[in-house]
Amino acid sequence: MNFSTPPFPANATPHTTAFSAPAILSGSALVKTYGSSTALAGMDISIRAGESVAIMGASGSGKTTLLHTLAGITSPDSGRVDFQSPSGSVDVTAMNERDRSRLRREAFGFVFQQGLLIPELTAIENVALPLMLAGYPRREAEGRAQHWLAALGLAGMEARRIGELSGGQAQRVAIARAQVTGATVVFADEPTGALDSATSEDVLNALLGSTVGQGHALVIVTHDDAVAARCSRVIHLRDGRVLPSAQTAGSTGRAVSA
Ligand SMILES: Nc1ncnc2c1ncn2[C@@H]1O[C@H](COP(=O)(O)OP(=O)(O)OP(=O)(O)O)[C@@H](O)[C@H]1O
Ligand SMILES: [Mg+2]
Repeated sequence: MNFSTPPFPANATPHTTAFSAPAILSGSALVKTYGSSTALAGMDISIRAGESVAIMGASGSGKTTLLHTLAGITSPDSGRVDFQSPSGSVDVTAMNERDRSRLRREAFGFVFQQGLLIPELTAIENVALPLMLAGYPRREAEGRAQHWLAALGLAGMEARRIGELSGGQAQRVAIARAQVTGATVVFADEPTGALDSATSEDVLNALLGSTVGQGHALVIVTHDDAVAARCSRVIHLRDGRVLPSAQTAGSTGRAVSA
């Protein structure tokens, strides 16, 4: 495990080397159905270290299901997910729940629309929690958490409970929590969906800086073209499938491919 610490450049842009980097996470022929509805209809996707991938598409097109399947939260009906860990390739779909939960804790970070922070805990306690779950003593966990909060512009707010922070500040606490264990892939599901555009840009800067700015990967579901335009790649979904780039070029003015 590599529990990296900040600082990172606040306005880091995606690594241009991402396109030639090997895939760190890949999904092949992913299928997931819920009763009669097909959330993933045979999907292939590769995520490389150092890139930010925006997942776009209409409501119900399978964005959240794809994110959760890549992250080992949801098991696909068929297909597989492979993760390149420092010690080699692992088949996430073949892991038992205990191992998958360990993988999620150690290698992945998560930021959701409503941060899912624990309201009874302070900012620093929320960020320190993943480290304490990984066995770090409280003092060291809180020391690292403090570094991350400061790097995300939240110095002085460590002792506030989540309800005492603005929406944008709370999202930055969520980003600190997602990154404190040195996650190599961060998954974000509409992390700026509840924020105004200026706050959204701040949060996106923090998210990009703390992930691609460190050579890690960011997979971000968004409905916002301005967010997608900041990512190194945009993937459009429709009815559980990745749209070929020819059908999506122009919608964000950027090259698209899966
Ligand atoms: N737990 C579930 N039980 C039943 N159906 C589900 C479940 N999760 C997703 N679905 C269905 O799978 C399809 C894809 O859902 P998903 O949540 O992945 O869409 P989405 O693209 O994230 O949509 P949104 O933009 O509204 O968040 C939808 O038809 C949805 O109703
Ligand atoms: Mg969703």
